[in-house]
Amino acid sequence: MAARILHVVGARPNFMKVAPVHRALAARAVPQSVVHTGQHYDAVMSDNILRELGMPEPDVNLGVGSGTHAQQTGQVMIAMEEHMTKHRPDVLLVYGDVNSTMAATLVAAKLGVPVGHVEAGLRSGDRSMPEEINRLVTDRLAQWLLTPSADGDANLIAEGADPRSIRRVGNVMIDTLIRLLPSADGEAQLRQFDLSTGNGPRPFVLVTLHRPSNVDEPEVLARLMAALENIARHAPVIFPVHPRTRERIARFSIPHDRTVLSEPLTYLPFLGLQRHAAVVVTDSGGIQEETTYLGIPCLTMRANTERPITVMIGTNQLLGNDTDKLQREVQRVLEGNGKKGSVPELWDGHAGERIADVLSGT
Ligand code: UD1
Repeated sequence: MAARILHVVGARPNFMKVAPVHRALAARAVPQSVVHTGQHYDAVMSDNILRELGMPEPDVNLGVGSGTHAQQTGQVMIAMEEHMTKHRPDVLLVYGDVNSTMAATLVAAKLGVPVGHVEAGLRSGDRSMPEEINRLVTDRLAQWLLTPSADGDANLIAEGADPRSIRRVGNVMIDTLIRLLPSADGEAQLRQFDLSTGNGPRPFVLVTLHRPSNVDEPEVLARLMAALENIARHAPVIFPVHPRTRERIARFSIPHDRTVLSEPLTYLPFLGLQRHAAVVVTDSGGIQEETTYLGIPCLTMRANTERPITVMIGTNQLLGNDTDKLQREVQRVLEGNGKKGSVPELWDGHAGERIADVLSGT
């Protein structure tokens, strides 16, 4: 009998990654179940996205919710230990680098359940980011290190991973993008944000910012918002706001007259808008990849990235916290001189199937 696979997801970027793997395993009739830790719980951050991706309702929601890192990690561990002790999966699959990923991995490792890490090997080298800690711990404990690109393999080898555990499968996030792009024409969003003209959308800037390094300090966030306000004199700036960023903007009383702040968008509306953007300003990991695939210039407000391939061969540029450069680079793109790039190898829509191949060979 095929192995029983347990997927654990918890936060927004996990959902786009589990969907193609779940589909590929379902096509092979592999028994599988999904636990949602409840790290993200707003409908727009979670349930609505899962529905758009065509995922079944998770079998269990652990309802862990928000908290400090230790609280969130601890709550996931306690609940996952109970779940896994009862259900004893043959394999645990975890995704990306969020707290739920690392917490579930720790539990499985101690229960002797083999772990597959989807999106293994990515490193920013920046241990001040919680995600980097999550990546390091998860990869150290996982038996299947399922990497999206060659840099991932190299990082793992440099850390002493067993080469036999590393499988370069490609980028699952791009599987989802390729499958759903035809369902995300963005027309409704262009109308919603008044971006339609008779012939194509007006050039606009799409923004997402939610990392602690950009939104937790009042001065840093104020400087970023001031730069966006300046940019908005030249082109519409559309900023779907993560709940933590919204809370900070309100708490720090940061002015925003011209920038259009909206609720977070679910996957299809965001993709629909993104594909028409002239340029994207972000601190997200996944959006650095999506813009590279779509060929849209991406300005990343971080000093480093765990996805260097998007800078080396894609459309991404790292701007750190340089808001003057941000304004100059946006201007450059609006003048038609944005960075061009190409699509990395194995970002081809079939990573989920390759993961199913790896697991069924076990
Ligand atoms: C988490 C991930 C991050 C990922 C991001 C995507 C970790 C360490 N971080 O960060 O890598 O890029 O998800 O969104 O796991 N909140 C709500 N509703 C929700 C979820 C969160 O209001 O549904 C608010 C709460 O105030 C919460 C805060 O957002 O305290 C932060 O949520 P949390 O899950 O701790 O981390 P994210 O910043 O979302």
